[in-house]
Amino acid sequence: MARKKIIAGNWKMNMTPSEAVELVNTLKPLVANDEVDVVFCVPAIDIIPVVEAVKGSNIQVGAENMYFEEKGAYTGEISPNMLVDAGVKYVVLGHSERREYFGETNADVNKKVLKAFEHGITPIMCCGETLEQREQGVTMDFIRQQVKVGFQNVTADQAKTAVIAYEPIWAIGTGKTATTEQAQEVCQGIRQCIAEIYDEATAEAIRIQYGGSVNAATAPDLFAQADIDGGLVGGAALKPDFGKIVNYK
Ligand code: 13P
Repeated sequence: MARKKIIAGNWKMNMTPSEAVELVNTLKPLVANDEVDVVFCVPAIDIIPVVEAVKGSNIQVGAENMYFEEKGAYTGEISPNMLVDAGVKYVVLGHSERREYFGETNADVNKKVLKAFEHGITPIMCCGETLEQREQGVTMDFIRQQVKVGFQNVTADQAKTAVIAYEPIWAIGTGKTATTEQAQEVCQGIRQCIAEIYDEATAEAIRIQYGGSVNAATAPDLFAQADIDGGLVGGAALKPDFGKIVNYK
């Protein structure tokens, strides 16, 4: 069975709650496409107004982070229950910016992935190499480690529903998209890694996105690749261009 594409915006630290509602209202008619899953991953403070604003549309709401504990003395963190109660369906975990600026490790990401599944939230687990790693020829070794540790103790049934976002760090926010060949090669490698951890059926079911300077011009070729099941879009998700990306065909 063909995998349904999933095209998600990662708003990062952009949009106040009132700006968020305005952006949703602008984008809603532009992203009305039931053939793909459309997800807006928004800052925590925007979640409640955005869930309200997307009502009746095809847009699903995601968070950009989540803590792995249920509740308690973790000042500033957001629990899985809070996200579920607010109407969140997806959560971006292990984004390279969280790994780089907030010290998230593969083991932290794994705890968050497990917690997300426990609460019925679909993780969008990010992985991706630096430019240095690419030049050293260790891209796939590095990503395999991120995926293997990130999915530790995740069952095959859970993994089948997960989303992995391959985001080469050198392509994020730089305007430098990976070539379709580079993106396809790594996404295929990730699927192979999932087949090794689980089995072919799991590898066939899991959805793998590409992220890194995706725009309306590059999306069609990227999303046509055999192992690329959509995109995780940063900058272009804040603009009407996102409608063109969602309607890439
Ligand atoms: P850009 O699309 O702005 O390069 O960001 C990609 C990204 O990090 C999405 O998570």
